[in-house]
Amino acid sequence: MFRVAHPAFVLGALHLANVVLTSAALDNRQATSYTLEDMYQGESFFDNWNFFSEPDPTQGLVDYQSKDNALSKGLAFVQDGVTVLAVDNSTTIPSGSNRASIRIESKKHYTTGLFIADFVATPFGCSTWPAWWSYGQTDYPNSGELDIIESVNRLSSNFLTFWRAGSAQCTFPDSSHGSATGSITDESKCTTGTTEQINCAFEDGSGNGWGEGFNNAGGGVYAHLINAEGIKIWHFSRASIPADITSKNPNPSSWGAPVAQWGSDSCDVLERIVDQTLTINISLCGSWAGDDDVWSTSGCPGTCADTVADPANFDNARWKINYVAVYQPA
Ligand SMILES: *[C@@H]1O[C@H](CO)[C@@H](O)[C@H](O)[C@H]1NC(C)=O
Ligand SMILES: *[C@@H]1O[C@H](CO)[C@@H](O)[C@H](O)[C@H]1NC(C)=O
Repeated sequence: MFRVAHPAFVLGALHLANVVLTSAALDNRQATSYTLEDMYQGESFFDNWNFFSEPDPTQGLVDYQSKDNALSKGLAFVQDGVTVLAVDNSTTIPSGSNRASIRIESKKHYTTGLFIADFVATPFGCSTWPAWWSYGQTDYPNSGELDIIESVNRLSSNFLTFWRAGSAQCTFPDSSHGSATGSITDESKCTTGTTEQINCAFEDGSGNGWGEGFNNAGGGVYAHLINAEGIKIWHFSRASIPADITSKNPNPSSWGAPVAQWGSDSCDVLERIVDQTLTINISLCGSWAGDDDVWSTSGCPGTCADTVADPANFDNARWKINYVAVYQPA
């Protein structure tokens, strides 16, 4: 994976003369135009993703399906150009057992780039815990994790988190969040320097960041940019997707405030988020969705395990994906 010079060096070099700067480093900081590197869409979508079928690492009541099983059970398919990933909504199972679901991971890994995902719908409903996220597979958790869409049950908020464990102290003060519109959920997890981990999360309480609100708005786009300046994530509902995204000439500098931002001001993000595998999954229950307090705050009746047993609870538990695109500075 290519790396760029430390931002302070880039600024110094810029001041002296543009010619000493490699164009890659310059573009990585200042790019206003990007070219398409990979497009995941339509009938070939599944060619470029692995189906994860190990036990859920967070003890969810899910049985992640292999590619063959997912396709034969109709839990992963492409219809009218839209890729669908679904939880089984036709099988009754005993309370406490695992329901068939899907987790896919990109075969290719990325460190920097502009990632644009257009979803027609996100999964929601009592017991669901969906996520559009990425993580560094080779040296996890040292290699970092970014959660772009993540929430549970019927909560209205979306949670966007930069997480990384391992040595090397790092903090994200207020100034590193720019004019991000989301709110920090726990300031101390961003600003308390700990050698153990960074777990700095934003909450988007607008109501249309995921789930029913997102879907009712016709879905929309999540775009995230990882470069030497840090990480920014934008969300646009269907009606407000910028024309340059639709025309595939994205220019993030024209998009206005992101919903979440982790600047490299006091923490070199590129040292802490490496070689990311793009991941889309739907877990059920587990440590977050199944937590008693979260369960009741979400307005969910009964127990999480009983909810999982009844297939009628999963008609909305499906991702519908128009495309995932990856761009690099032109
Ligand atoms: C998807 O997989 C992750 C990582 O294994 C795990 O935390 C969770 O059970 C699943 N759901 C979410 C929201 O991450
Ligand atoms: C499963 O959900 C889909 C999408 O909402 C719906 O079309 C289908 O009828 C459901 N299947 C069953 C068996 O209810």
